[in-house]
Amino acid sequence: MSWTEKAIEQLGLIPHPEGGYFKETDRATSTISAPASYSQSPPTRNLTTTIFYLLDSRSPKGHFHTNKSPTTHFHHRGRGIYVLIPKDGSRDVIEYEVGQESGRLQWIVTGEYWKASYLPEGEEGCLISEVVAPGFEFDDHEFMSKEELVRLVGEEKAKKYEWLLRK
Ligand code: GUN
Repeated sequence: MSWTEKAIEQLGLIPHPEGGYFKETDRATSTISAPASYSQSPPTRNLTTTIFYLLDSRSPKGHFHTNKSPTTHFHHRGRGIYVLIPKDGSRDVIEYEVGQESGRLQWIVTGEYWKASYLPEGEEGCLISEVVAPGFEFDDHEFMSKEELVRLVGEEKAKKYEWLLRK
């Protein structure tokens, strides 16, 4: 059994709508009012939520999406590539590897970005944890459209990244 199959079994991971697998391991019982710029349904947010998140060879990409809340990522095993596109179009696409080899073991992605992730060539998997604060709600989540990708990076670059859009 590969380490990714073992992780799915041991941690009880299930398919994530973004691609990859996840399990919510905590949802803080304390709540706050939804910040003004967030969806007001529901009207409150849990203070934090925490998940495991895994990419493996059967589900090797997390499709472009955004969350209102900042997400703090913690590396556990394997390597991943993160692709961030600033939503305001003011800066270039950001791409970096995470894991022991690159030395990037913790990274934060705010709501100012569209985010996708994938496994580098030859990598078996990437297991991380993510803490979202205020906590995750689907109402604060959005998948990126092809039109938005083209608008932000132009036709040429969009060709390079469109495989990371949710079909
Ligand atoms: N349910 C579906 N996706 C997610 C996610 O990314 N985080 C949390 N906490 N719950 C989810």
